[in-house]
Amino acid sequence: MTKILKLLYSNTYISGHKIGELLGISKVAVCKQIKNLKQLGYNIESCTKGYKLTKDKLFFNEHEIECKLNKSLTICKIIKYYKELPSTQTTVKMLAQKGFYEGTVVIVEKQTSGYGRIKRVWASNTGGLWFSILLKPFLVPEESTKLALILSIALKQTFDLYNIDSKIKWPNDIFINNKKIAGIIIEMSAEQDIINWIVAGIGININNELPKELKDIATSLKEIINKEIDRTEFICKFFINFEKLYTSFKEKGLKPFLKEYNANLLYKNKHVTISNGHNTITGINLGIDENGMLIVKTKDNVEKIISGTLRETQK
Ligand code: BTN
Repeated sequence: MTKILKLLYSNTYISGHKIGELLGISKVAVCKQIKNLKQLGYNIESCTKGYKLTKDKLFFNEHEIECKLNKSLTICKIIKYYKELPSTQTTVKMLAQKGFYEGTVVIVEKQTSGYGRIKRVWASNTGGLWFSILLKPFLVPEESTKLALILSIALKQTFDLYNIDSKIKWPNDIFINNKKIAGIIIEMSAEQDIINWIVAGIGININNELPKELKDIATSLKEIINKEIDRTEFICKFFINFEKLYTSFKEKGLKPFLKEYNANLLYKNKHVTISNGHNTITGINLGIDENGMLIVKTKDNVEKIISGTLRETQK
């Protein structure tokens, strides 16, 4: 269906005969696909000149994404879009166990059991971007956190394209105007010294309505820009940014990205507290080192932290 949609987008009118010829399918198959597109809500007019698509609203589905991407990327070879799922993380983890390839992406309109780091509930109403990517990088398990840092840079770069100044809250939250707009979760299957697969889950508040209890601490892109955002456009920009960073990260590691990450860090050089279940460390946030560890200058030492939840605190 993506191919026919592409043809309809690039023509005012195109005959069923021409579509069939270009796609190597019968006229009956063309009619069937047109019917399917209409069922998805596309406004397709048919007359003697052929078919004509009127783009009267923003669509969001795998065909739109494939049309707009217009090239194949290693990080999204297979895109699956669903109306509702418990969580894209659980779906992609299941696909990973079944042996699906790197670059399998599951996107959903609404999650009923979306979750974030430390199993926190992730509100995932319709209108947001909720998706998970299956990745299989050659990394040792301890390096998986580096990937989350790379994903945060890709998200930050995507917000830049909307002229919005976002910040990365270590390790991988994106904040705008001191409110959270996006989060990343990394889950993996690993042996002693090799990662089998990683499922990177990304949640971005785009056009979704935020629950009342989150309004003081979270924001959405629609709230900031004051208009409905084309999610297809946003996710495509993100995929393109991430593909570039991921390719370079696999070749050169995290070092080339340190400067960019640290330059965009929220609460950099500020007094912060990091807790990770076992420990709580308080000190000045000096940014990450080349292993992706956060450097914190405490009262009498310099500590390096691999994971935890960070908040700004008073001295
Ligand atoms: C966090 O900030 O704690 C991470 C949030 C990650 C949410 C995304 S939404 C898509 C994917 N599916 C989930 O259930 N979670 C991630």
